[in-house]
Amino acid sequence: MTDYRIKPKEKVVVLTGAGISAESGIKTFRDENGLWRNWKIEEVASYDAFTQNPSLVWEFYRMRYLQLSEVSPNPAHHALAEFEDKLAGRYTLITQNVDGLHLEAGSRHVLEMHGSLRRTFCDNCGKKYATNEINVHEEVPECKICGGNLRPDIVWFGEIPYSLDKIEAAMQGCDLFLVIGTSGVVYPAAGLLSIARSNNSYCIGVNLDAPSNLGLLNEFHQGKAGEILPKLLNELTGEF
Ligand code: OAD
Repeated sequence: MTDYRIKPKEKVVVLTGAGISAESGIKTFRDENGLWRNWKIEEVASYDAFTQNPSLVWEFYRMRYLQLSEVSPNPAHHALAEFEDKLAGRYTLITQNVDGLHLEAGSRHVLEMHGSLRRTFCDNCGKKYATNEINVHEEVPECKICGGNLRPDIVWFGEIPYSLDKIEAAMQGCDLFLVIGTSGVVYPAAGLLSIARSNNSYCIGVNLDAPSNLGLLNEFHQGKAGEILPKLLNELTGEF
């Protein structure tokens, strides 16, 4: 499958997208029947949309939040959690996903660059809440402190992703970069592969379809992450 073996001091960075959660039953965005086929990005995924129609925005995120109680991590999430244990201290997981499934699978150092459905905050006073401590069934959930509109802690289009400083630092020292289950069209995440290549990191992709930046990969493994990753990650750490 791969001839690459991680050497003792090498550092690994992993970037995941919606495809890694597909086998848990969570829809991706751009595949056939993906979320952006049925919802308009501009109506639910920007701050302007939230100020104009917060009910519609909440309808979208409520549906996605409530689904979380019905899904669990799949073999791809579990394989990455075990991979982190073997690479203690030499591993960074960056995810564009907001479902929290990497943390649920036991990954500890996860940079959720697009936020999380499991958190909300007040648009008026900034008070933070875990989503499970608010009344998510209210049309637009309200802040208990100031009565302002709560919003999901999601990085919308036009907003700055989280942890960019940590992501940049991880990319600088990266020897092996794995990019899994992402179409590679949303920046800045999509630009990390070019950064990895210009730093001479070895780049491996795992995806159901060929991603838009396929040409930048040293190796591409086409298929389902839950089927490919358990074996691939063992090979990378030298176990079969
Ligand atoms: P996309 O829906 O754009 O891409 C998902 C990718 O996963 C596709 O290339 C699929 O081929 C692949 N895929 C599907 N099932 C798979 C499986 N079982 N195993 C491996 N790969 C599989 O999702 P993202 O690239 O994550 O942002 O989208 C990036 C961002 O766009 C999201 O974080 C979201 C969205 O708009 C915000 O909402 C801010």
